Amino acid sequence: MILVTGGAGYIGSHNVIALLDAGYDVVIFDNLELGHIETVQTLKSLDLKGKVVDFIQGDLKNFEDIKDVFSKHEIKAVIHFAAYSQVAESMKNPQKYYENNVEGTLNLLNAMVENSVKRIVFSSTAATYGEPVYTPIDENHPQNPINPYGETKLKIEKIMDEFDEKYGLKSVRLRYFNVAGADSLNRVGEWHDPETHLIPNILKSTFGGGKTFQMFGTDYKTIDGTCVRDYINVEDLANAHVKALNYLENGGKTNFFNLGTNTGNSVKEVFSVCEKVTGKKIPVDIQPRREGDPAILVADNTKAKNILGWIPQKTLEDSILSAYNWEKKLSK
Ligand code: UFG
Repeated sequence: MILVTGGAGYIGSHNVIALLDAGYDVVIFDNLELGHIETVQTLKSLDLKGKVVDFIQGDLKNFEDIKDVFSKHEIKAVIHFAAYSQVAESMKNPQKYYENNVEGTLNLLNAMVENSVKRIVFSSTAATYGEPVYTPIDENHPQNPINPYGETKLKIEKIMDEFDEKYGLKSVRLRYFNVAGADSLNRVGEWHDPETHLIPNILKSTFGGGKTFQMFGTDYKTIDGTCVRDYINVEDLANAHVKALNYLENGGKTNFFNLGTNTGNSVKEVFSVCEKVTGKKIPVDIQPRREGDPAILVADNTKAKNILGWIPQKTLEDSILSAYNWEKKLSK
């Protein structure tokens, strides 16, 4: 069985589906603070290839909660998503991020060591690189986070190296760029409250009662003045986790990979694809820059292609279409 922490959340839930499709049984561990019980219910009802989805509600900050999972289930490997992930919130309340992300992960790693579970795939982030010194960003780019969120993820990466040295615990750290889209069968999707991400915010503004979309900053040194990001589809991302798990199962050493598409799109480009997909003229409210936004973040994904054999398949339009279908479902 594979333990998926944070499996009731956005990226975790898509990963549960990818794992079931790949023939794994899954146990979800989630405190449901940000994840949704409805998502768990959907995942439990899928019955994909007769694979099992178990759910345990618990908090990584309580060592007993996570210890309990290992005593109840035969865990072969862990995929770890459970974390706070809002940059702005992390700047206001760093302690919350250190306690939850770093201490919570330490509890998880200690429970793994106690139970001789030696494989973990970890949800890391491009935010560990900080302000880019060159682009596209490969894995050799210096890691100098500029906010506590990125700092917590980098600390965890370092702790994982130490756990490998000391206990032989092998990790794959996947550094995500901008995750986008939803399940193409519309079973799960992005469901944050409040929502801070670009694509859902543009799409939400097209529904009755939705806030006018706010575009943050049009004076960056980029092709059209707006920030450029590398939007990676959530299903492609989920498949990378299955490949990372297979890599570890085949004896792969501790490693880390960027997950992105090698292509950047500006906020204005994303906005116009949203108008095309929805067939609507979307009102926009131009705002000053949002604090802490680098102008350009684009991944070099060559390493993941070469070592994991991972090639993203979906286009930005695919991501926006699936996200739109999901937003329609949420708005009902
Ligand atoms: N943006 C808007 N309006 C919105 C939301 C976003 O104009 O309503 C802009 C942002 O200013 C930025 C771009 O759209 O220029 C993308 O913003 P997102 O909030 O969607 O994504 P970020 O690039 O800020 O954040 C992502 C992940 C973080 C991660 C970070 C790494 O969501 O978890 O990349 O830098 F830390």
